[in-house]
Amino acid sequence: MTLRHFLKDSSISSPEQSEILRLALEIKADRLKYQPLRGPKAVGVMTDKPTLRTQVSFCVGVAELGGYPMFVDSRLAGVGQRESVADVARVLGRQVSAIVWRTFGQDRLEEMAGLVGVPVVNALTDDFHPCQVLADLMTVAEAVGGVSSLSGVKLAYLGDGSNNMAQSYLLGGALAGLEVVIACPAGFQPKAEIVAEAAALAALAGGGVTVTSDPVAAVANAGVVATDTWVSMGQEGEADARQAPFLPYRVDGEVMALAAPEAIFLHCLPAYRGKEVTAGVIDGPQSRVWDEAENRLHAQKALLIWLLDQAGRD
Ligand code: NVA
Repeated sequence: MTLRHFLKDSSISSPEQSEILRLALEIKADRLKYQPLRGPKAVGVMTDKPTLRTQVSFCVGVAELGGYPMFVDSRLAGVGQRESVADVARVLGRQVSAIVWRTFGQDRLEEMAGLVGVPVVNALTDDFHPCQVLADLMTVAEAVGGVSSLSGVKLAYLGDGSNNMAQSYLLGGALAGLEVVIACPAGFQPKAEIVAEAAALAALAGGGVTVTSDPVAAVANAGVVATDTWVSMGQEGEADARQAPFLPYRVDGEVMALAAPEAIFLHCLPAYRGKEVTAGVIDGPQSRVWDEAENRLHAQKALLIWLLDQAGRD
């Protein structure tokens, strides 16, 4: 058994990422083609934070793979309060084929992965949202003509550079060979060690990573413009303080006009129109956000197929 987890974007290599993205495109065209969970075998889907896309896409995806999506309400389970992460891991690991977990600290996910004995998938932590970035890369691949055309595409992300999406764009984009540019205000930059890891991955994959405070330079000729909420889940108490610093990073029509003519706009959702993006952009012709949301389903199914296949190997 080769137990692999997807705790962050760089839990997989560049070739493994390409393999998963190609599989995702294949199963988008033939949704019930692979059924590794037939039986049905169960996959535990847990979330400690609000969810729409994650719950739906994982539960539908597990069902389409022939399995049973066991949605665990972590408020009832009290993971880390009523029962330790370690005890939850030892209970769940004997009954499910994989665990999908949205939580706060990356350390909680790592503790789970260390004890559970089945693949663990990060469905968003404070630091990373790697399933979303897999779906985003799939969406970019569809726009540029395939997975092999991802290398060299410039992706400009404007907004909170310290959040999970920015940090996953750095690692996941670097693995794909993208030119990732994060434009963010001072005080909201990605962690230095993540930028360093992304730079090392980008050097191997032929891409690059840049962190800047200049949104105009960031979007110049970008093929992909992305943003995210200025107030991530768990930061609601900072909402007022998180408006003024981010205003220069709002994605509007003028920003999109600086990007490449064929540029697409991505947003992981939920979106706040009039804050990080104008309605004209997210509801306009360059927006791919609905494809992006759908692609969560296909990308995560491909990821689960790949992880289960690895787990089945000697
Ligand atoms: N950065 C956002 C992503 C939501 C999918 C958050 O963590 O709330």
